[in-house]
Formats: sequence, C-alpha cells, structure tokens
Amino acid sequence: MHFDPALLKGLRGARQVAILTGAGISAESGIPTFRDKLTGLWERYDPSELATPSAFERDSALVWGWYEWRRMMVLRAQPNAAHRAIATLSELVPQLTLVTQNVDDLHERAGSRGVLHLHGELARAYCETCRNVYRLPDGVPELPAAGKRIQPPQCASCGGRVRPGVVWFGEGLPELAWHAAVTVSCGCDAFIVVGTSAVVQPAASLVHKAAAAGALTIQVNPDITGIEDSVSFSLRGSAGDILPALVLQTWRSRTV
Ligand code: OAD
Repeated sequence: MHFDPALLKGLRGARQVAILTGAGISAESGIPTFRDKLTGLWERYDPSELATPSAFERDSALVWGWYEWRRMMVLRAQPNAAHRAIATLSELVPQLTLVTQNVDDLHERAGSRGVLHLHGELARAYCETCRNVYRLPDGVPELPAAGKRIQPPQCASCGGRVRPGVVWFGEGLPELAWHAAVTVSCGCDAFIVVGTSAVVQPAASLVHKAAAAGALTIQVNPDITGIEDSVSFSLRGSAGDILPALVLQTWRSRTV
C-alpha cells in the first residue's frame, strides 16, 4: 500500500495526534454499523428510531432487548487490526488522544487507554432515577434472538428502571468527554477520522474544528462521506487494511 509522501511527512511531524472513530472501525470485528441494514427480526427496525428516549418510554423491553443484543455481540467479538494499530500508535507518537462514537469496548480491549466515549458505553447501564451504575452480568451469554423483547432490570438501590448507558438522539453528550474532545481537536497537529459516516452531530463537527485550527486531516473509509471536501487526505479502504499499513509506514519505519 502506498501513501502520499506529503501525508507521511505531515504525520511524522505531528506531536499531538487525535483520532475520531465510528462504527466502521468495529465492522471487521463483526459489529454491524448503524447505516448497515439490520438483519433477522431486527430488519424491521431503524436503529435511529430505537436509539431515542421516546422509544424507551414507548417500549422499554424492545429497546433494552436491542441493546442487550448489541452488548452480547460485542462480548463475543474481538478487537481487529485497526483497533490494535491505534493502541500501538499511542506508544509511537508523543501524544495521542482517541475519541470514539462507539459504545463498544473494543478499543480498550486492544490496549487503548483514556478513550473519550462521546456516545456512552454499552457496559455502563445506569438507573434512570438515582443514576447509579448498574452492574450488568459479565461472561459471554447466549446472543438473544433478534427482535426479542427483554424487560430492563431494576436498580438494586432504589428500584428504578435501568437504562442503557448510551447517549440517545436528542440527549446531550457527556460533558467532560465532549470538552476534552473539542480541546484536543482544536490543538492537535493531525486529526484522523476512521469509519464514520460523519452525519451525526456534534461529533462530526470535530473534524471541521481541527481543520479550521490548521491540523492535517485524514479520513479512512471505504465509502465517500460528507466530509470528503473538508479533509486533507481521504484514504479509501477498510480500517483493518489501512491503519496498520499507515502506522507501519509512518512511524514504525522511523523507529527500526
Ligand atoms: P455509521 O453506521 O453512520 O457509519 C459507519 C461508517 O463506517 C460508514 O461511513 C461506512 O462506510 C464505514 N465503514 C464500514 N466498514 C468499514 C471498515 N471496514 N473500515 C472503515 N470504515 C468502514 O456509524 P457512525 O458514523 O459511527 O449514535 O454513526 C455515528 C452515530 O450515529 C453512532 O454513534 C450512533 C449512530 O446513530 C447514537 O446512537 C447517538
């Protein structure tokens, strides 16, 4: 795989690197993206209609069942070469900040630390009433049947209803993670966007902030996205192919 020499030179000079990932980075681990058509009985549902507070009010068992299905899928999945390349990169650049829209923990399981989760985490369900974190059973249970309704559990402290630990459409982002993401986007030398359709705000605005602040901006995606014209370089292909090659050719070759 050959990269533009100007891209490699720009990356090698970067002291602060920020990476924003989306569902596409976990696609090669077998986790469906949001724009993928859902399969089986979930085919009838649109993810953007399940991921709302009103959907949970209307049919909490349907929404909880959908998130449990995603959570089980993640528990059974393994990080892929793209997750691992990012974890390796944190040892090769002076400062790396990883921001993700993903609610899975595949970055952490690949070895990344201090990941900023803009849309929450599947593993951190909490009580709607007292907001205590609810300890979900670990282990790798059976994947529930697609379309299966599952009643959300009750909070052990107050008996309130437990909800998924994710950010739904119409809800605010976790403040600390968002502020940290904005700060790093405005202060980095290179900003790499991986596997996101970049249509969901405010996460998608980070690349524009980075570009406006003068960072080198790079996108990794097999498809054309809405930020095509805003990035310095668009690398067309899967994250699992491109990121390991990019890390090897940019940074590894310098260290050996
Ligand atoms: P999307 O499902 O919108 O987009 C996934 C992107 O990944 C697409 O642009 C694909 O082309 C790309 N892709 C697919 N396979 C890939 C691969 N192997 N390597 C690299 N890229 C690949 O997912 P997000 O952009 O993450 O929010 O979606 C953003 C937010 O919208 C999600 O966090 C979620 C969703 O609705 C909430 O739930 C609040």
